[in-house]
Amino acid sequence: MKSEFPQEFLWGGALAANQAEGAYREDGKGLSTSDMLPQGIFGPVVARQPGDFNIKDIAIDFYHRYPEDISLFAEMGFTCLRVSIAWARLFPQGDEQQPNEAGLAWYDKLFDELARHHIQPLVTLSHYEMPWGLVQNYGGWANRQLITFFERYARTVFTRYRDKVKLWLTFNEINMSLHAPLTGVGIRGDASQTEIYQAIHHQLVASGLAVKACHELIPDARIGNMLLGGLLYPLTCKPDDVFAALQENRRWLFFGDVQCRGRYPGYIKRYFREQNITLRTEPTDVEALSHTVDFVSFSYYMSGCATADASQAEKLRGNILDMVPNPYLDSSEWGWQIDPVGLRTLLNILWDRYQKPLFIVENGLGAREKPDADGQINDDYRIRYVNDHLVQVWEALNDGVEIMGYTYWGPVDLVSASKAEMEKRYGFIYVDRHQDGSGTLKRSRKKSFYWYRDVINSRGATLSR
Ligand code: BG6
Repeated sequence: MKSEFPQEFLWGGALAANQAEGAYREDGKGLSTSDMLPQGIFGPVVARQPGDFNIKDIAIDFYHRYPEDISLFAEMGFTCLRVSIAWARLFPQGDEQQPNEAGLAWYDKLFDELARHHIQPLVTLSHYEMPWGLVQNYGGWANRQLITFFERYARTVFTRYRDKVKLWLTFNEINMSLHAPLTGVGIRGDASQTEIYQAIHHQLVASGLAVKACHELIPDARIGNMLLGGLLYPLTCKPDDVFAALQENRRWLFFGDVQCRGRYPGYIKRYFREQNITLRTEPTDVEALSHTVDFVSFSYYMSGCATADASQAEKLRGNILDMVPNPYLDSSEWGWQIDPVGLRTLLNILWDRYQKPLFIVENGLGAREKPDADGQINDDYRIRYVNDHLVQVWEALNDGVEIMGYTYWGPVDLVSASKAEMEKRYGFIYVDRHQDGSGTLKRSRKKSFYWYRDVINSRGATLSR
């Protein structure tokens, strides 16, 4: 078996605008949901006051420092960088007829800089943020009008960047709306299941219309969806646990099923019936949903377990997704269970289910770190984590799974999403910035920087198998 990854396999990293750019009011940008959530996607909404502090206001100042970061990515050999566009930079309130030219121009500069380094952009249209005006004035995705606003935004960027961006994603971790409704669909955290699924329906329709627009406007581009790959195993081999795991996995696979097959599956219709969920739809939704994605992208950090025994589940639930922990796995400092083999399993499951190319657009290890006396960060734990996951990607390739690439999450330290922590660092590149806002923002290479560079340069031949 050849040890190298295929020539066309894309290697790189992934960022999100609200976690990296900063410049939260610069060049006409409007406030976004992220700007109103200083404690992260699970925190409360806090109205902005003059002089208040949100670590994301500056984040890692990627808005001004992108040339330096991109040159460091190029030094590692990246062939792809996943970024997102902050919708509120282009449509500050969300409902404008015309986009903000200064916002458009900044992304032009970003894509030009990537092109100079032969790094392909992979662009997420909506990564955990939307213009706050759409929440305040329209009630978020609960309102059907959001479909029109999103389509306008999507058509604007497809038209503007048609020669610069050939790989697109619609909504980041679209299934997270079930856990973080404000971030996902711009509605209150205590919304009912009917309200959440109604908003999700509008977003799925918008996703279909974005796929349609992308195909029309950039025929040589490819557009994918983006799922949080929340793989769940049965806690035991009891048939009821096995079925519980199947059902729990369907809670997130449902999104992929709609985006890949173009219609709602039977199991979700049954769930809606049993929960008395009735969605308001329009006849045109059927056509919109029929525009299926070209590829499936997903994040993968951990796996978990599911059980039919409700009291067990209550007792054991742990991490952000309320998964039941797996007794056979170790965890990160944040309780995320590390499971490289799960990535191979998931790749095979998604390939068998959809028969569409897959793209791992997030994977990584968050850790507390500070430079040692020599100013070095010897992050062997991160090297082990990435190594072991990439070995499983290689196994999946050999299983016959079609995989477009791997973009490591947060190749440069950035603000974490769940709790807006700067101290949860993922990077191969250290950023001197701290939770209280102190620090010079200076970048420095960690040990993993050189390791990842060698992996990319050898197309995976230097991985320890
Ligand atoms: C994914 C998101 O959920 O996981 C990213 O798409 C996020 O935005 C990443 O940063 C890691 O989560 P966290 O909370 O550690 O930043």
